[in-house]
Amino acid sequence: MFDQLCKQRPYFWFNFPDSAGFNFLVVHGASLASFNFLVVHGASLASGHGSRNINCPNRWQYSVAADLEIAAARRSSVVRVLVITGAGVSAESGIPTFRGKDGYWRNLDPIKLATPEAFARDPELVWQWYRERRHSIRNAQPNAAHGAIASLAQGADEFLLVTQNVDDLHERAGLAKREMVQIHGDIFVTKCSRCDFEQEQEQEQERNGVTRCTKCGAPMRPGVVWFGEPLPSREIERVENYLQRDPCGVVIVVGTTATFGYIIDWALRASHHGGVLIEVNPEETPLSRFATRLVREPAAIALPRLVDELTS
Ligand code: OAD
Ligand code: ZN
Repeated sequence: MFDQLCKQRPYFWFNFPDSAGFNFLVVHGASLASFNFLVVHGASLASGHGSRNINCPNRWQYSVAADLEIAAARRSSVVRVLVITGAGVSAESGIPTFRGKDGYWRNLDPIKLATPEAFARDPELVWQWYRERRHSIRNAQPNAAHGAIASLAQGADEFLLVTQNVDDLHERAGLAKREMVQIHGDIFVTKCSRCDFEQEQEQEQERNGVTRCTKCGAPMRPGVVWFGEPLPSREIERVENYLQRDPCGVVIVVGTTATFGYIIDWALRASHHGGVLIEVNPEETPLSRFATRLVREPAAIALPRLVDELTS
């Protein structure tokens, strides 16, 4: 079965719902033989692709000054920047994270809310949760971290944000859509559960119940990626194109548990040729040991300062 899945998409999430948490086998490439990372319970990097890891043994031990020197040196040429964000970047806007204290997955069961099977079983329950989330995101404001990332985009020669967040706070902070990839989808898109029809959901159009596709009549669903589903291939392609064009001088990973192997993979590949890899997160993650710099502070405090350092 894995072989079959792997042929369809380069990255695939797979969940094993029988355990206390989730296990994820993240596959890169056409067959199991070429997978990059096996991430178990989001905690350990059980196996990695050799060539990637050899390059970065405990790079965080290097000094911060050295880090910034490298970044400064790169400023004189073309500075390519990759920023990867997760739920932690929106935490200070009042949007709950998933796995943190008070995170969604601490109290709610993702199997009942964020899988295609859950939607097939009880679409109304799933929609209720997503409508509530839409509502709280609409009432939230971008914070200083979103603002700093938008400023960094302006200061960089080339910039890409890969966000796992389905909210629109990066965009509302001023980042253009072409500068970002929402790799887990967009909560404000409503798409057909069967065909390719989709639409942006305006607030006034939002109503209770499950709407039906005007093209094929199937139930409409939120435009996000659920557990067990492949990542959107168009969005993967945008990330891959950016990574393949040139290495990045600066890679910043903010507010994510880096549970998914592709997040670690992209961060390492982008910074592979001597780029700085900065993690902003109050807590340790599986990515921490590869970072050249660790900033153990909340994003809204750390990022404005960091962006100032990098762009002044
Ligand atoms: P998680 O909830 O797994 O992790 C949030 C991370 O943010 C943790 O590492 C926290 O330590 C960190 N954090 C909390 N507050 C912070 C702050 N103020 N500043 C900086 N960091 C902070 O969220 P993600 O890693 O984004 O998928 O989760 C990945 C995916 O799993 C999500 O996109 C979601 C979820 O299931 C979907 O729903 C499709
Ligand atoms: Zn349809």
